[in-house]
Amino acid sequence: MKRLAYLAMSAAVLGGAVFWAVTSPKMVDPKLFAGLEPDLAHGEVVFTAAGCASCHMAPGAEGAAKLQLVGGQEFASDFGTFLAPNISPDPVHGIGGWGVLDLANAIMMGVSPDGAHYFPALPYWSYERMEPQDVVDLHAYLMTLPPVATPSQPHKVGFPFNIRRMLGGWKFLNMRPEYVVDGQLSDAEARGRYIAEALAHCGECHTPRDPLGGLKLGSWLSGAPNPTGQGKIPNITPGALTWSEDEIVEYLTSGFTPEFDSVGGHMAHVVENMARLPEEDRRAVAAYLKKVAAVQ
Ligand code: HEC
Ligand code: HEC
Repeated sequence: MKRLAYLAMSAAVLGGAVFWAVTSPKMVDPKLFAGLEPDLAHGEVVFTAAGCASCHMAPGAEGAAKLQLVGGQEFASDFGTFLAPNISPDPVHGIGGWGVLDLANAIMMGVSPDGAHYFPALPYWSYERMEPQDVVDLHAYLMTLPPVATPSQPHKVGFPFNIRRMLGGWKFLNMRPEYVVDGQLSDAEARGRYIAEALAHCGECHTPRDPLGGLKLGSWLSGAPNPTGQGKIPNITPGALTWSEDEIVEYLTSGFTPEFDSVGGHMAHVVENMARLPEEDRRAVAAYLKKVAAVQ
């Protein structure tokens, strides 16, 4: 009996140690960010392509108010409703006191300055692929935006999903810095891949998820239920999206489909952002979409 109890206890200790190791936060390598000088103008391009304002502006913000990153928009999921926090440069309620590494750990690794895991509603699964230089540029740009002294609001997420430590398990199962589409790519296709897979996080909406919320990479971009509950997010692999590259570029510029329907839902924000990028970036995304494995 004594021996059994001893065994059970060691198993529990070992299990606890493994759980602790697996769920402990992983940080970026600071060496990759050392000595990089910020380029403000490029920071704005990164900010636009990554769609930070689409999630962090106030609900329904218009015009210049879109640059007040006060948070408050709600994002429904199977695990509860997340509220985007204030990421304006306010030193108390926003991220005014954050350095480049704080930002890099938050958006690339999903780790807060005090070492807690963020929910993957912040699309760090995609942003993990960001270039360190782009994060440095983005940080400099964010600090030029207007500070807003409004507190962030709590998420509406119940037990057990509100235990942030468990998100380490999600990361262990799902995080991988590699790109999904690999093989020989032209420069344009590779640029398109960087925009689509890292910055603009197309896969976070267009790829179906498993019951634990991980992206099903074998069905990359093949469509998914809409978390808002309205309709379905379309399959945009060559197995379903038969538009020419020019037609895709037109859609990402004006929001018009070849049938002259106009874009709606969350995709309207994506198009608004894409439309502000240089034309060659939209062409690059269109070229990339043609390289994605076709799913019928
Ligand atoms: C799809 C919506 C979405 C997008 C796009 C998005 N975020 Fe967030 N962000 C969130 C949510 C939701 C949280 C809250 C995560 C949590 O509390 O676990 C968050 C949290 C953060 C935090 C942590 C703030 C804090 O107070 O701890 C930072 C910093 C941040 N986001 C910056 C950015 C930047 C910069 C971008 C663009 C590169 C961006 N986010 C894009 C939804 C988004
Ligand atoms: C926030 C979620 C979200 C993100 C991120 C997103 N999309 Fe979409 N996308 C949608 C939704 C929703 C629709 C349906 C739009 C509609 O009903 O008008 C859509 C529609 C589309 C369509 C039209 C397909 C068709 O058959 O009508 C294309 C093409 C597309 N997205 C490409 C992209 C690309 C490329 C990216 C990344 C640059 C991207 N999307 C990122 C949600 C998203």
